Amino acid sequence: MLIHRDPYYTTELGAAYLGDAREILSAPELEGQVDLIMTSPPFALLRKKDYGNVDARDYIAWFLEFGRLFHRLLKPKGSVVIDIGGSWVPGQPVRSLYHYELLIELCKIPGYKFHLAQEFFWFNPSKLPTPAEWVTVRRERVKDAVDCVWWLCKDPHPKACNRKVLQPYSESMKQLLRNGYKPMLRPSGHDISSKFLRDNKGAIPPNLLQIANTESNSRYLRACRQAGLKPHPARYPAMLPEFFIKMLTDEGDLVVDPLAGSNVTGEVCERLRRRWIAVDMVKEYLDGSKFRFNQFAVGDWKEATGQRAFMIAEGTQTYGRGRGSSHQK
Ligand SMILES: C[S@@+](CC[C@H](N)C(=O)[O-])C[C@H]1O[C@@H](n2cnc3c(N)ncnc32)[C@H](O)[C@@H]1O
Repeated sequence: MLIHRDPYYTTELGAAYLGDAREILSAPELEGQVDLIMTSPPFALLRKKDYGNVDARDYIAWFLEFGRLFHRLLKPKGSVVIDIGGSWVPGQPVRSLYHYELLIELCKIPGYKFHLAQEFFWFNPSKLPTPAEWVTVRRERVKDAVDCVWWLCKDPHPKACNRKVLQPYSESMKQLLRNGYKPMLRPSGHDISSKFLRDNKGAIPPNLLQIANTESNSRYLRACRQAGLKPHPARYPAMLPEFFIKMLTDEGDLVVDPLAGSNVTGEVCERLRRRWIAVDMVKEYLDGSKFRFNQFAVGDWKEATGQRAFMIAEGTQTYGRGRGSSHQK
């Protein structure tokens, strides 16, 4: 592995580390080695959550430390992708500007400046209508269902290829490809040439990613339940990192998630054959994250009845109520 220290666990392609990412990732051997940093920091929420949120006022200063670190870790053509939720000003139906301020600051850090390659928006249709006071009680605002996703880079031309994330054509586009189209000048002035009819094997996606975050019965969740571990409260859906990992890296590239939580990023990397490093400072989150990898979670499942146990692969622990095993935390 790239870091000269003991990982919390390893898989075929990756390693997870327990501790403060600012310390662990400052290992000199990692400098300039990383193709993509894909992460979702604890947001500067107004209500304090139990996974390390910091107050909005201190947030930017806190995150800029990571910004400098990310800059050092990245290869010249590497990218950073940050999924960051919005926030409200306490007691008012007014939005905090912290995530925009953070973006601007990240593009101004002396000696460590990033470019904004593109802003993305993750639309989660399953988001609840909060804050209730403004949305469901007074009805002065609509529900906030979009996260900003900042794609940053050191070089204006980072490694990226949208051909790797093409979406299926719409029915009308398929029809056009079948039936043909007469090249013409649109009323808007756009020249729709015959090139428009080339079948590129899919449509170029927009920067609005619609992904419902509705995981309720995944192996991860079932395993956490059975092991008596609390699932991570702020997981992102696998399709979000998957989009960027596909578009911005190739097989064998190195992806780092410094604030990995339940290590969705590592799971996606393993599936897509990218090397990965994940860090989180909460042991329970990393314990649960092991179940994302086949080598740690083996055996059968039986819901509700609790008849079957599964085993942690090292053979030292058995979780669940079946087969006379003990229930451990
Ligand atoms: C929003 S969560 C990430 C969730 C993750 N994307 C997932 O899908 O499971 C942010 C994580 O950052 C971790 N964290 C906060 N400060 C950290 C630090 N200095 N070093 C390492 N991890 C940290 C928290 O423990 C938390 O799990």
